[in-house]
Parts: sequence; structure tokens; C-alpha cells
Amino acid sequence: MQILKFPEGFLWGAASSAYQTEGNNTNADWWIWEKSQKRAEFLKTRQNPAAQYISGVATDFYHRFDEDFSLAHQLNHNASRFGIEWSRIEPKEGMFSEEAFDTYEKILQSAKFHNLTVFLTLHHFTCPVWFMQKGGFAKKQNLEYYLRYVKVVAERLGEYVDFWMTFNEPEVYATHAYFLGIFPPQIKSAFTAFKVVNNLIAGHNRAAPILKQITGKPVSMAFHLSDLQPAGPLGGLVKNLAHYLANEYILRRTVDACDYIGVNYYEHHHLTLFGFRKHSHTSHDATDMGWGIHPEGLERVLLYVQKYNKPIYVSENGLADSKDIKRERYIKDHLYYVHQAIQKGADVRGYLYWSLTDNFEWQHGFWPRFGLIEIDREDLLRRKIRPSALAYAKVCKENQLEY
Ligand code: BGC
Repeated sequence: MQILKFPEGFLWGAASSAYQTEGNNTNADWWIWEKSQKRAEFLKTRQNPAAQYISGVATDFYHRFDEDFSLAHQLNHNASRFGIEWSRIEPKEGMFSEEAFDTYEKILQSAKFHNLTVFLTLHHFTCPVWFMQKGGFAKKQNLEYYLRYVKVVAERLGEYVDFWMTFNEPEVYATHAYFLGIFPPQIKSAFTAFKVVNNLIAGHNRAAPILKQITGKPVSMAFHLSDLQPAGPLGGLVKNLAHYLANEYILRRTVDACDYIGVNYYEHHHLTLFGFRKHSHTSHDATDMGWGIHPEGLERVLLYVQKYNKPIYVSENGLADSKDIKRERYIKDHLYYVHQAIQKGADVRGYLYWSLTDNFEWQHGFWPRFGLIEIDREDLLRRKIRPSALAYAKVCKENQLEY
């Protein structure tokens, strides 16, 4: 067994998003869409009886944040990534909610009280209904609304935030909402999806100086970065093209307006001339959702982003594992490769497991269980610490991995 030490001051914790945990975000596009006819049609194509597709009260984080941060603290986390919901802050165009600001202030104060360094995400897949009625991020002129929201939040809540994240995974949002049609507004147009990606890039580049100027705190976003490997004839060519589109396109255009790089890592694919072989050509272990587990890929992704010479934080990495039989191994294996990347020169300064608690997994509903902490949906959303959370807590406490 080796003892792998992490750099001093390394940030350890977990990540979550507002809509997936807060509950009752009645002014969000998702809330309305979940109950719409359009969505009902889409659900006919999904056959998982265990799924609960309505977010409802989610994990009730909006009221139970103190309990959750206290658990994170008990688990030796020193950082937390979570989000705020634009549709709560600005439920109607130009109308900012004092109630929402008060609650978010309490949430942020609670995080600080529990000694958590805060990464705050401003947009994580959801938008206010009124904003979507105006065309959402498909219209460039609508960026003005997003920038106004960003400015108000920076002024009102900036004192509690250590790291800003303007957007979570712009291309995942754009492809799911505007190309695959599995998120609202359920559109299937490659052209619109591409427009949305470019508008989000512009949104980030314009939001970053506002956040910097008002708060002086580092700004980035959570980039969805995948480990892509070639397979078969012409696989190399396909890989290069896919890598450019999936990993490079947004990063290159926003990196100058990033003080650090947030890396969300879940995916590893082998690319062939005819697309990608899902997850692997070998027999990688898989999560409850069938996603291949491939920790080595994280090292490659981290070394790849190192070329931009910015501090790197793993802003998401995790798995659905309801029985908690793979999570400890998963975390330790990924951390081993984070450590390898650091040894080879990547400036990685933190790791945030996805997610602190089980939560609403978007189009899949509640059945995928990503949490370090179980949410018992049969028992008043009782929080139960999973054994893997304790194994991770030891790593966080000692700032080292026994491997
Ligand atoms: C998203 C999360 C999601 C997780 C697991 C990430 O890409 O940011 O919202 O829950 O993947 O699917």
C-alpha cells in the first residue's frame, strides 16, 4: 500500500445543483415541462417503472441545507459546490425576490459556518419560465437578462462566494435541450443547439468581468470533459474531430475569461469510424446507469487541460450506485489518477464528488443514486450516510490517499 499525499490546502468536498435538490422551483422551465403534454409524449419512450420523473420536493435542500452542510462538515469536507436558481431570484422579468435572496444568504452563511469553501453555480440546466418565453439562450439579445441577474447576484451574495461558476456544461445543456430534445424546451435542431452553445460562450465571456469586478473572486464554469480514445481504422481521425467538438470548442473560446478550470469527468469513449463504442471496447465495470467506469481517463483529461496553465478543480465526478458497493473503489481509483496527474505537473487543487446526497437526476428521475448520503424517499427524506462517504471522509481528513 502506498500513501499518496495531496498538496497542502487541497479542497475536498461534493457538488450539487439547485434544481436537483431544492424542490418546488415553481417558476423554472423544468417545473412546468415536467408536467406538460409534450413531456408526457416523451416519457412514453422511457420504460423505467422505478423512475419518478417529477422533481417535486426533490431533497428539500431549500429548507434542509443546514443539515446537509453539517453532514458535509462531519464528513471532513472543506469545500462545497452548489447552485442558486435564477427562477427563484427573478421569478418574473425584472422582479427580484427578497425572499429568495434572504434564503440564499442563509444557505451561504450556513456553508461558511460549516467552514466550506463555496463554489457557486449560477446556471445549471434550468431557466425562468419568462426567460424561456422570450426564447432563452437561443437569442443572443437575451444575454442581457442573464447578465443583469449575474450582476444582482454578485452585488447581493458575492461576499460569501469563493469561486464562481457561470454555467454548468454548456454543451450538455444545449444538446439535451435543443438537439436531442430531452430537456425543455424539447427542441431537435442542430442549428439552434449550436447557436445556444455560442451564446453561452458569449454569456460566460461577458459575465466573468462583471463577477470579477464586483467581487474580485475567481470565475470559471464546469466544463464537461471526456476521455476520448481512438479504436479501429480511422478512429484517430474521428477521435480528433470529436475531441475538438466535445472538449476543445468551448474551452478554447472561454479560457481567457477563466481564472481556473472546473472539470466534470464522467465519460470515456472509444471512437470508431462509425461513431463511438459506448464507454469501452473492453469490459469496464459499469455504474447503475450503465456508464463505464474508467478512472485512468481522468488523468488524461487533467493533463490535457494543464496546457492552459490555470489551476484546476475537479468540479464533478461520481456514479450512480444504489447499493454503495462500487463507490469507495470508484472514488479512490479516480483520486489515484488525480494524484498521478498532479505528479506529472497538473495544477489540480480540489476534488468535488458528485453528489453530496441522492437527488433528482433530470430525465431519469430519482432512481439513480449518486449520493455520498442516501435520501430515504420512503421516510421523510431522511439522510443516511453511506459507508463510502466515511471512506472518503478519511481521505479528506488526512489529505492523503492510502492506495
Ligand atoms: C450534471 C449533473 C448530473 C450529473 C450526473 C452532470 O453532467 O452536471 O447535473 O446530475 O452529470 O448525470
